Amino acid sequence: MTDAAHRPVLLDEAIGALAIRPDGVYVDGTFGRGGHSAAILERLGPNGRLLAMDKDPEAAQVALDRFGGDNRFGFKRCSFAMLEALTDEMGITGRVDGLLLDLGVSSPQLDTSARGFSFQADGPLDMRMDTTSGPTAAAWLASADEAEIARVLRDLGEERFAGRIARRIVETRAERPLATTGELAALIEAAVPFRERHKHPATRSFQAIRIYINRELEDIEACLAQSLRVLAPGGRLAVISFHSLEDRIVKRFMRDAARGVAAPRGLPVRGGPQGQTLRLVGKAQRPSEIEINANPRARSATLRVAERLS
Ligand SMILES: C[S@@+](CC[C@H](N)C(=O)[O-])C[C@H]1O[C@@H](n2cnc3c(N)ncnc32)[C@H](O)[C@@H]1O
Repeated sequence: MTDAAHRPVLLDEAIGALAIRPDGVYVDGTFGRGGHSAAILERLGPNGRLLAMDKDPEAAQVALDRFGGDNRFGFKRCSFAMLEALTDEMGITGRVDGLLLDLGVSSPQLDTSARGFSFQADGPLDMRMDTTSGPTAAAWLASADEAEIARVLRDLGEERFAGRIARRIVETRAERPLATTGELAALIEAAVPFRERHKHPATRSFQAIRIYINRELEDIEACLAQSLRVLAPGGRLAVISFHSLEDRIVKRFMRDAARGVAAPRGLPVRGGPQGQTLRLVGKAQRPSEIEINANPRARSATLRVAERLS
């Protein structure tokens, strides 16, 4: 896959936020097609290091092809929820100068119908970022009970017709298994009573099932918590999120870590809260009109940045 297949979102802003030092140690938790990784490597000197991760076997292949010969670069195919285990293994826990997470799916994942992420192109109902493990969307929809499906669609897709869609899924699968993205999209279209403007009726449900199948929110929570131990004092955390559920987790995490823990009432502690672990760096950043015009998928991106306090 070439660079053109995935345009890195908020590239200059994210790389600027990492404040890269040529001899620093950096982690790209979401390698994708390596757009952000390439920009980090460009700024590293011979003693700098970049460790990249991605769950996706295709991303792993691209990492090998693009940067396999660069001895400053290492790659591990795993979830970024394994961050600390990996930095422990490499002896860099507490020494990482910057961690970047560019969340969600990549354009090649979305655009390849065989990956089953898209309701616009028919393909097998898979939706796994890690195609080597865990149940596919088809397997989950074949076995989950109606209430669980409705809960996922409501909580992770903010789908107001979650109950109707879940009922239709359960009725349909009693007659035939749901095997393709096209079948699921058509079923949802038939189940919802009216359409939102400029939005396919399956958009919310596909987002919800994808987030659930890939344990996306759990992985983000785990990685953020570990980042506090993994980052060096002064190290930067930069996170690009693409929907409100992700961004809410990132925003709350950074805000709470920046506020610290308030001392319990009645304790004779002077001054403000204790235990602040992060300092917020600037406000949330959004892509420019120019970037959105060139890459409409950047439209919903938000970058938040924080720095590890000593
Ligand atoms: C938006 S793309 C990143 C694009 C990348 N920054 C680039 O410039 O090419 C998100 C990538 O993160 C990966 N990903 C998402 N969640 C992950 C997780 N929990 N652990 C590891 N990789 C993850 C996806 O497989 C996908 O390749």
